[in-house]
Amino acid sequence: MISYKLQEPTWNTPLVKIPKGRERYGANVFAKLEAVNPTGTHKDRGSAMVVLEMIEKGYGTAVCASSGNAALSLSAFMYMNELKAKIFVGSNVSKEKLDLIRIFKPEIEIVEGDYMAATQKVIEAAEKHGYYNANAGYCQAKIVGNAYIGREIAPFSPDVVVCPTNNGTHLVGVWEGLKRAGVSPRMIAATSQFTKIADSIHGFYRLEEPKISNAVNDSGGQFVSVSDKELVEETISLAKQGILSEPASAASAAALKHVDLEENDIVVCIITGNALKFPKRMRKILCSR
Ligand SMILES: Cc1ncc(COP(=O)(O)O)c(C=O)c1O
Repeated sequence: MISYKLQEPTWNTPLVKIPKGRERYGANVFAKLEAVNPTGTHKDRGSAMVVLEMIEKGYGTAVCASSGNAALSLSAFMYMNELKAKIFVGSNVSKEKLDLIRIFKPEIEIVEGDYMAATQKVIEAAEKHGYYNANAGYCQAKIVGNAYIGREIAPFSPDVVVCPTNNGTHLVGVWEGLKRAGVSPRMIAATSQFTKIADSIHGFYRLEEPKISNAVNDSGGQFVSVSDKELVEETISLAKQGILSEPASAASAAALKHVDLEENDIVVCIITGNALKFPKRMRKILCSR
């Protein structure tokens, strides 16, 4: 049995061929299934490294702003390791998401305002109480955790890697892992700043800049913005091909329509989130066609 506790995140998530990849995008397209991680998201890669660093440095409480996957993952990993999570969420958080986060009993504080207002509270709390700051943009351990994803896909020598992107912790980490393994595919940041259906990438807050732009530019990649219409279409298409992706992570495959691909290109789309965590949203999307 794999233990996710007190060790490096050495588990290997599956890389599967997207059956209609060639037909839909004109290349060999693979999905890296981060949705199979313990809490259904790539965020577990970062959380595992956060745990290691906290234990090494003697922290008891981690603090983070998030209303979704990052909060759920951090809370679960704190719970597994008998550490504490304090989560700040913006006042616009949905009940469906709050219910999920509450499973692992973190302390939750609702902040008047949005994600950036919640992030400000994290900075203050970390400074005032000496908590471990696990917020995107302030936590190198999360980048290190995501680098393991890059390391795992490097042996397949991808020409293009697509990461759903908001703060960019994920993309920057994947790029680090690939580079360290001597592979440099074009890095595509799949974004959707004004989306109404892919909360996890809404806002495109870019807290990891300038590292995100450096990764995209140094690799010869690009930023792609996808519409909600494209996200709906891709979420449905992936579901019909056996890949249950939340809309935010379907952005990786949706972005391919905006990328020049060669017939023999090997493309890896990171599927960062499991659809089953958001049943209301998924029902609405799958029933829309
Ligand atoms: C499912 C999913 N995909 C992608 C992202 C974007 O990750 P990052 O903020 O590291 O760019 C998130 C972040 O919340 C997410 O939950």
